[in-house]
Amino acid sequence: MKHLLGIDELSAADIERYLDRAQFYADGLADESWDRKTLVGKIVLILFFEPSTRTLTSFDFAAKRLGAHVVNWNPETSSLSKGESFMDTIRTFNAMEPDAIIIRHSEYGAPKFVAGRVNCPVINGGDSWREHPTQALLDALAMRQTFGALKGLNVSIIGDIAHSRVAASNIVLLTKMGANVRVIAPDMLMPEKMPAQGVEKFSDLEAGLKDANVVMTIRPQKERMDHVLIDDTAYFRDYGLTYDKLEWASKDAIVMDPGPFLRNVQIAEDLADDKGRFVYDTQVANGIPTRMAVLDMLINGKA
Ligand code: CP
Repeated sequence: MKHLLGIDELSAADIERYLDRAQFYADGLADESWDRKTLVGKIVLILFFEPSTRTLTSFDFAAKRLGAHVVNWNPETSSLSKGESFMDTIRTFNAMEPDAIIIRHSEYGAPKFVAGRVNCPVINGGDSWREHPTQALLDALAMRQTFGALKGLNVSIIGDIAHSRVAASNIVLLTKMGANVRVIAPDMLMPEKMPAQGVEKFSDLEAGLKDANVVMTIRPQKERMDHVLIDDTAYFRDYGLTYDKLEWASKDAIVMDPGPFLRNVQIAEDLADDKGRFVYDTQVANGIPTRMAVLDMLINGKA
């Protein structure tokens, strides 16, 4: 039984296979030629214990584009409120025999815990600050679509590196694929230990952006901070991306953000509305073919 619990467990060849399949579905969606029946008769169970706009909805779209049924479970209206344990909740769902489970949870390693207790593939839709593998895959797809390859790309990630699972999965994926990764953050948002070797750390934005082909902004993840010491105005002054600061990067640099993004905190209003430079919409659109690829490959045993 294969799962997708993190980028950490994938080889460069595995990542290429997921990206190739995601591009196959992106092309199929563009010309309406994809096989709509690869998941007919399958039931995908979505278990999100944290809020989501993009990931939850695009998994739902992806499963339905391939003909699957989707059960979207809501913890707030569940029997967890009657004292049923998480473990017994998972046991209960497993007895219903879903064909795949997608889980988002605030607890470190929750998807792995579930994967050890069910008889179907488990896909991590984001756990704690640890990993968000499908976000990193769709981001990599956008970079590959723009620049042709990931190897040798200079990627600068600005913001809350310490608390962001998106930053962690992107760092692991990009270093595995031969990109040069830099992270730029104030001390309080910089982790002591990086999730991969060879990442350069900067506190100065100008130095960290030099020659960057991709500039990725990451929101301060206030929901995961014990004490919120970030002042939005000061953050925007020092780390918020504007056209002027983007001049420090390579001329062809694109700007990315996994969303949700905060205008005039992470990124200036005018830059956020520049769809030529800020490729957020491409990232969101890539979420569907990427998650189609993951569902198809795991449920149909192609991973
Ligand atoms: N990028 C991302 O994970 O967004 P959501 O939290 O809205 O799913």
